[in-house]
Amino acid sequence: MKTIIEPFRIKSVEPLTLTTRDERREILERADWNLFRIPASCILIDLLTDSGTGAMSSEQWAGIMRGDESYAGARSWYRFEARVRELTGFRHIIPTHQGRAAERILFSCLGVAGRLVVSNTHFDTTRANVEHLGGTAVDIPTPEALVPSKEHPFKGNIDLAALERLLGGERGEVACVIVTITNNSGGGQPASMANLRSASALCRRYAVPFYLDACRFAENAYFIKLREEGYEERTVESIANEMFSLADGATFSAKKDGLANIGGFLASNDDRLAQQEEELLILTEGFPTYGGLAGRDLEAIAIGLREVVQEEYLRYRLASTRYLGEGLTSHGFPIVRPPGGHAVYIDAGRFLPHIPARQFPGQALACAFYLEGGIRGVEIGTLMFGGSDPTTGEDRVAALELLRLAIPRRVYTQSHMDYVVEVAAEVAAQRDRLRGFRIVEAVPHLRHFTARLEPVGAPRGAPAPR
Ligand code: F0G
Repeated sequence: MKTIIEPFRIKSVEPLTLTTRDERREILERADWNLFRIPASCILIDLLTDSGTGAMSSEQWAGIMRGDESYAGARSWYRFEARVRELTGFRHIIPTHQGRAAERILFSCLGVAGRLVVSNTHFDTTRANVEHLGGTAVDIPTPEALVPSKEHPFKGNIDLAALERLLGGERGEVACVIVTITNNSGGGQPASMANLRSASALCRRYAVPFYLDACRFAENAYFIKLREEGYEERTVESIANEMFSLADGATFSAKKDGLANIGGFLASNDDRLAQQEEELLILTEGFPTYGGLAGRDLEAIAIGLREVVQEEYLRYRLASTRYLGEGLTSHGFPIVRPPGGHAVYIDAGRFLPHIPARQFPGQALACAFYLEGGIRGVEIGTLMFGGSDPTTGEDRVAALELLRLAIPRRVYTQSHMDYVVEVAAEVAAQRDRLRGFRIVEAVPHLRHFTARLEPVGAPRGAPAPR
């Protein structure tokens, strides 16, 4: 069937704001062409992120009322702990307010200073936490991941040969290996069980801890079920159990596959490490039975972690991402292939070859989607990752110039996606007329969040492109 049946119906609705093209042009100008500076009330379809933007179920809302707000030993904590343990099998479970808090605590306690942390691809907060603590973050994705147009079932795999060389001491001591499932920065692509098993075995051989950054574990597990031999008949829950059993621990942002708006955890089987982590948790997040979360958040996550492994949900989830990917492809947009779990990534560098990397083709496309249809995506390219190198001072460009359209969970319907595709067709028709941007003002680190931009070719203060 062509229709994606969303396996839920709508109980509570939130109005969307419709704006005119002229209004959006003014809004863009006022925001200095940076979509992070646009108030959410001026966005029609918000595809900035799939993190914390999902819709909760009626069960989760009921759980919110059951939330036990006791400081120590709340009932909600025990329900959260029981569900996380059932899913992951880890002995120690430490709640955190979101994923990056788990990363900070883990890397602080592992002591990454002067050592390497190796990943298929670090997410930007993960990399920033490693570097902030004096470690070096090394990305070794499988080579197929670097070619956006190449079809491959598991572009989220880690390069095993490169991993073995690094574990053997090629560039210094490895503090830990952390595989991101699915690989967000690499296009939302899954890692195979075979790859995780081999990476885990290599880490055991070299006595280096093997971790999962498990934000989108359910999407990864469902991809394994669909694409890896021997897993067709398995439940997503049992595939997830097996993935976690290969690891020594995990970091998790419940804002993605926790189906919650906030939360996370850090888990491991290492008694000594967990003790240190709990000490740091009490210092900076909260008591170990709430870790910076309200009891009601713990309750919502415990329920979300059950709902997210349901196959009807995952079938709809991957179908809507693929549907958007195919729609964009039909209008000539080159995308990272195949479409990932949580987002479609447009290869803006290839789509707009007349805009050089230093004029941010991904940003040009992001602004065009907003101007044409009130759609907000995020540039993942030289605006985000470029700028002057802290050691050499050289002006860097990103490996790829992408626009990510991330899909919030259970929020938009197929007709919303149809609308996005129609807007994309309008954008495609103006392809040759789109112009790049220059930075007017920016901070040196994480500049994309706050930078002020202006269109290239427009003298300061002149009317912007219509
Ligand atoms: N790891 C991955 C793979 C992520 O995608 C994110 C967040 C984090 C860790 C950090 O988790 O936000 O709860 O602290 N990704 C969001 C995104 C922000 O838009 O992709 P957090």
